[in-house]
Amino acid sequence: MNRSEICALAAAMLLLVTVSSADDNVQSLRGDSSLDADAQTPIIKRWEPDQDVMARDFVQQPPLVPHSIDGYKIDKNSNKCLTCHSWANYRESGATKISQTHFSDRDETVLDNVAPRRYFCTQCHVPQKDTKPLVENSFEPVKAIQER
Ligand code: HEC
Ligand code: HEC
Repeated sequence: MNRSEICALAAAMLLLVTVSSADDNVQSLRGDSSLDADAQTPIIKRWEPDQDVMARDFVQQPPLVPHSIDGYKIDKNSNKCLTCHSWANYRESGATKISQTHFSDRDETVLDNVAPRRYFCTQCHVPQKDTKPLVENSFEPVKAIQER
């Protein structure tokens, strides 16, 4: 066996060990369903009526949306969210203006308008609802952002 064959064999063995030690008990949050069976349909939560903004759990969290966004369209020609949240419109609408991070592209170049990676607001901002955590955990926000 030459050197590259030994390497290939070692890599294959490593792969085998990794695959066989994968935990059989790991279950997806979507539940367990075999490939040829229909997955269980998730229960669709009801919209909350418009309300105050819930406190953020960590500093970098995209704030949750405290109002209904039913029918708000975001496509290449228009962005309903920006009609209230842009720097040009926030005063009139009383909405929070998008923060400066929304103007930086992935190379950290600051643009003169919303960066493409921050254009599709609902990629990150989801409607708020007081729900059970998907995974039990003991996470606590730092004191500085906790509500009193
Ligand atoms: C008709 C105006 C309007 C439109 C359109 C609108 N919003 Fe808002 N939004 C508001 C107002 C007013 C608030 C309330 C600010 C407050 O209570 O502090 C708000 C609050 C928010 C907040 C919470 C901000 C914070 O202070 O933490 C988020 C996030 C948000 N909106 C996201 C969106 C997204 C995403 C869309 C589009 C899908 C959208 N909004 C469309 C008016 C609007
Ligand atoms: C890639 C994820 C992402 C996208 C897309 C995105 N945001 Fe955000 N947004 C964040 C994060 C993270 C924060 C909190 C930290 C910060 O300000 O960057 C935030 C903060 C905000 C805030 C609160 C600003 C403040 O001063 O407290 C508003 C309002 C908001 N976003 C609106 C929008 C709107 C409207 C869009 C669409 C045009 C949008 N965001 C797109 C991640 C995103």
